[in-house]
This record gives sequence, C-alpha cells and structure tokens, in this order.
Amino acid sequence: MANPVLFVIAHPDLGQSRANRHFAASAKSVEGIEVLDLYKTYPDMFVDGSHERHRIDDKSTLVLQFPIYWYAAPGLLKEWIDRTFSYGWAYGTNGNALKGKNFMLSIATGSEEKAYSADGQHNYPLQEFLLPYKQTAHFCGMNWLEPLVYYHARASEKEQLLAHGEKLKNRLTELKQLAPQQEMPHGA
Ligand SMILES: Cc1cc2nc3c(=O)[nH]c(=O)nc-3n(C[C@H](O)[C@H](O)[C@H](O)COP(=O)(O)O)c2cc1C
Repeated sequence: MANPVLFVIAHPDLGQSRANRHFAASAKSVEGIEVLDLYKTYPDMFVDGSHERHRIDDKSTLVLQFPIYWYAAPGLLKEWIDRTFSYGWAYGTNGNALKGKNFMLSIATGSEEKAYSADGQHNYPLQEFLLPYKQTAHFCGMNWLEPLVYYHARASEKEQLLAHGEKLKNRLTELKQLAPQQEMPHGA
C-alpha cells in the first residue's frame, strides 16, 4: 500500500488561511500521506465520486481536515462525502468498501474551547456538532478515532500553532502504522 493515509483538506481559501494551511503543510511533510486539496481539485464543486472511490479503495485511514463553518464542514466536503460514499460501495448491498477503515476529523474552530459548553456562546460541546460525521463513520462500519481539535485558530499564539502542527504530524505518523480494523464494534 503506497499511501495508507488519505488526508483531505477542505478550505475554500487556503491562501487566506492561517491554521488549516499550516496543518495541510504539516501533513504534506509526512511521507506516505496522500493530501487531497478539495477546493483546488474541484473548483467547479463537481466531485467525481467514482474517481474518489478509487482513491480511497487502497487506503486504511481517512483524515478530514477543515475549519468549522456554521457548526459543520465547508460545503464541498459535504458534497465529497455525498458523491463518494455511495450505495453499494459505502453502505447497502455489497457496500463494504469503507468497513474497517480508520476515520479521523482534524478541525479548527474560531472560538475558544470554553465557548463550546452549556454556559458558552455555542451552548453545546463541540463533539455534539460532530455527531453526523461520527454516525456516518459508524453507519459505514469505519473505526471512529478521537478528533484532533485546534480551538481559537486565528488568534492563538504562533507557538501553539506550531506545536499543534507537530502533534498532527505525530498523529499521522502513528496512523500510517494503523491497520484497518477487522471486527467493527459499531458497524452498520
Ligand atoms: C463562514 C464561516 C463560518 C464560521 N463558523 C464558525 C463556527 O460555527 N464556529 C467557530 O468556532 N468558528 C467559526 N468560524 C471561524 C473559523 O472556524 C475559523 O476562522 C477557522 O477555523 C480558522 O482557520 P483558518 O485560519 O485555516 O481559516 C467560521 C468562519 C467562517 C468564515
């Protein structure tokens, strides 16, 4: 398996990005990671699902990197999932292609962590907003890994940004060694 990890970066304007651009560069620096820049690959927003399914077939791990926009991912990542995770491949009759693959979100938020609480601006912990992704993973029989979150992404100290980039690199290096899971506890 040439590249066991697919790292999908979904940011509509990486040129203006601080955090996600740095994390995409971190991922690119790790050997054996295929980095897919979604907005660069699909500027017309039309995702080639068949091509993407082939891209995923030989991977053991999918990592989705994105900024939180209105409590979710930027639109093209939704479109990528919609077009790619198709019936008969991701789920349904003979839909076993994703079964056992590892799945991790790597997220940047604008707000601080304390804003994601019952007393905070956003009322709920961030994990609650990630439920559709978690259940998508479970529905397709994937192995949900703890998300990597970078809070307060535009206002954090440079040292924190660099440290998080290193953390991401270390996580990706570990993920390269992680085989697909044979028995899925939460399969579809
Ligand atoms: C359209 C839009 C919606 C956003 N919605 C949220 C949000 O719901 N929660 C939040 O914490 N930050 C939100 N943000 C802030 C971004 O998450 C933040 O700017 C981004 O993670 C910073 O990463 P970057 O430097 O790579 O752009 C939003 C930003 C934009 C442009």
